[in-house]
Amino acid sequence: MASENKATTIARRRYNRIAPLYDLMESSIESARFRKWREILWSKVKGNTILEVGVGTGKNFPYYPSSAEITAIDFSENMLERARDKAKKLGLPVHLQRMDAQNLTFEDNTFDSVVATFVFCSVPDPVLGLREIARVCKPKGKVLLLEHVLSADRVLAWLMNLANPIILRLMGANISRRTVTNVSKSGLTIEQVTDLGWGIFKLIEARKEPEIR
Ligand SMILES: C[S@@+](CC[C@H](N)C(=O)[O-])C[C@H]1O[C@@H](n2cnc3c(N)ncnc32)[C@H](O)[C@@H]1O
Repeated sequence: MASENKATTIARRRYNRIAPLYDLMESSIESARFRKWREILWSKVKGNTILEVGVGTGKNFPYYPSSAEITAIDFSENMLERARDKAKKLGLPVHLQRMDAQNLTFEDNTFDSVVATFVFCSVPDPVLGLREIARVCKPKGKVLLLEHVLSADRVLAWLMNLANPIILRLMGANISRRTVTNVSKSGLTIEQVTDLGWGIFKLIEARKEPEIR
């Protein structure tokens, strides 16, 4: 992509490499937990114009509200290729585009809801990406995220920080991110954070405040 920095190129290439194995790698936790959590997240999505950031191979497709107009982006060509195939098989009219979450090309205040699942663990500059989400979300719009975050338990957090470089290389994900704090830093207002498991998996619900004049 035109103005991509080095960290973003490295992260994108990682996902291009992982793409053929991604669904397989995640299959057990997907059926044990993620499916249920995706269902909960999508039941909270509001409005007709929806953006999914970091669509990956399209694991959220089964939960898309049928009446909504949905745009989904990802910076990895290989992940998107799989999402395209899946959308075609399902006959899903989703607008898929290759785009960097840190540099969205949409106008300000475009979407009623913005969704991302397990994405801000890998966006190189997560606060920048979340600020972009805040920008393209309409005032009073909803932002819904499923994320794994650094544990609040000191021993577990130490282990997660230790293992982070290896997991990052293998899976493309940082397990040491403080995504709830990052959401606050982006200017979005956090409405609710639900712990889904082990103090690590979180459903984050945020909204964009109407602009103060
Ligand atoms: C762990 S996967 C999650 C995929 C999907 N959301 C899911 O729930 O299965 C992370 C996805 O985010 C994408 N991603 C990471 N950083 C991105 C960025 N800066 N811009 C766009 N997509 C990004 C990756 O290419 C990958 O498809």
